[in-house]
Amino acid sequence: MRKYMRFLAAFGFSILFGPPAGAQVAPLIANLSARHTVSLNGAWRAIVDPYDAGSIDYHAHPLRNNSAFYADHKPESKSELVEYDFDNSGQLTVPGDWNSQRESLLFYEGSIWYKTAFDYSLTTGKRLFVHFGAANYKASVYLNGTMLGEHEGGFTPFDFEITGQVRAGNNVLVVLVNNSRKADRVPALSSDWWNYGGITRPVTLVETSGTFIQDYLVQLSKGDQQQLRGWVKLNGPQHRQKVSIHIPEAGVATTLETDANGKADFSVPATLTLWSPEQPKLYDVEISAETDRVTDQIGFRTIEARGTELLLNGKPVFLRGINLHEEAPLREGRAWSNDDARKLLGWAKDLGCNFVRLAHYPHSEEMLRVADQLGLMVWEEVPVYWAIDWENPETLKNVENQLNEAIARDHNRAALIIYSVGNETPVSEARTRFLRALVQDARSLDNTRLISAALQNHETKAGNHITVRIDDPVGNDLDVIGDNEYIGWYVDKPADADAVEWVSDFNKPLIMTEFGGDALFGYHGETDTRWTEEYQEDLYQHQIAMLKRIPFLRGVAPWVLMDFRSPRRTLPKFQDYFNRKGLLTKDGQKKKAYFVLQEFYRDIQAKPEKTLAGQP
Ligand code: GCU
Repeated sequence: MRKYMRFLAAFGFSILFGPPAGAQVAPLIANLSARHTVSLNGAWRAIVDPYDAGSIDYHAHPLRNNSAFYADHKPESKSELVEYDFDNSGQLTVPGDWNSQRESLLFYEGSIWYKTAFDYSLTTGKRLFVHFGAANYKASVYLNGTMLGEHEGGFTPFDFEITGQVRAGNNVLVVLVNNSRKADRVPALSSDWWNYGGITRPVTLVETSGTFIQDYLVQLSKGDQQQLRGWVKLNGPQHRQKVSIHIPEAGVATTLETDANGKADFSVPATLTLWSPEQPKLYDVEISAETDRVTDQIGFRTIEARGTELLLNGKPVFLRGINLHEEAPLREGRAWSNDDARKLLGWAKDLGCNFVRLAHYPHSEEMLRVADQLGLMVWEEVPVYWAIDWENPETLKNVENQLNEAIARDHNRAALIIYSVGNETPVSEARTRFLRALVQDARSLDNTRLISAALQNHETKAGNHITVRIDDPVGNDLDVIGDNEYIGWYVDKPADADAVEWVSDFNKPLIMTEFGGDALFGYHGETDTRWTEEYQEDLYQHQIAMLKRIPFLRGVAPWVLMDFRSPRRTLPKFQDYFNRKGLLTKDGQKKKAYFVLQEFYRDIQAKPEKTLAGQP
């Protein structure tokens, strides 16, 4: 009886107050660049709503009438009370974080309502979606006063179908974005990066045919350089269609029949020029159904871990990496554009990198596509960062969704070689169960890429001999071990690295996924003076000498390419709310340590066989 009453209550609620919150997003539409799209980027109206006055009344009950900001209501008489007005409120540029657009919003955490309007005449038989590249952290989306749905997670794309809601003439799109930090969110309460809020990536209308190619996978079979495999997924009523996949330059052409679910798998032999950092070969791939056709630029390579070896296209590879946050170069705020991606990844190439760790959350699709073009292998990570609500099933579901969305968006990018399920998470049974679930998720969605995480280690001292051991139990589940260490900055002195011996409990490749120290550009002094460029330079010299002595090391990614904003870094003059571990300033000025790393990477390129063997 009680269950029935609960059902009635929920049913009654939805009848009285519209669709339940959290209505489902539409399945992700792959590769917008190949579609018929209209950009909604530009100046949107915005209402800063720190007390959620646009969502709840003074007793915290949900507003479901014209007082709710999503109604975008105008007074119908001179006596009517309406306490909000988008069209006379300020504006924010979309895409873009709000923090860097107004001094008053630099530290703002809470709700902001966005509004834009657009005309659209949808041809009969066509379908229309609204696509968001990302909104940090939670977005509630309304069209013409009706909720389309909600999305949680600040770094992955989402779509809503609006075929049935869009009207000829004027349409009003209202988006509530909330970036409050909460213990059950992912990331949770603390992070060492700026909590940039807002609609941080492009918003696009996507028009499709009634049945369209929603997604597809075209990649090499795991470990087989001569066999292409993948699938095509149609979305719409005409499930069963002939679909062809054509790679003209490689002489590949195959035809499939989609099943009652609109899905078809394929596997076909192919002779291809393999993608690599030295030769980032991309092919034009054409996918044609009876009712839709898309083209994409896709590279083909294999990536494997065998014992402690990392093999790209079957050959040992050493990752000459660097970490990046999605922090805009040359200006304030979050990076999001193709220009931002080209600038940041161009800096990584100048440094001598063949690998980038995109910390600590999925970066924009632009970053993955530019990495494909420039020849940079990529580590992509979900923001399971530091302390997370490990025992909360909703939290796990949330990050599984973020992982699924990242994989759905990026699974055709040759540059993407590693999925990471976390960073510096404190070891506990609940945490290891949580990470193991994510590892299984990632593997079930994509078994062609390697799974890793940035772990921590244990340091023990005997006399002046230091042993650093990697023994995190989740290492058993990973293909590649990532480890963060700050010898010379947070622990020990830079020269102590000379006495360190590394031990790993796992016969797996190690990538040193973080090391480094802060330096204020232009601040000079002795090597033992904190914050000087000389201190950072000396630290890198001792670190590199130590790294060369690790026989199972197969890659490094120093922390970090460029200084970035962080709410945790408050030291006046030296930090001023910036983490200064960058080898570059935001203006691209090179600190002395930059040249130490650049020389190390040049040495590796000059004699790869020695470094691969872990020789000094
Ligand atoms: C940690 C963390 C980074 C952080 C860095 C630092 O390892 O992973 O996100 O910015 O160290 O302390 O600078």
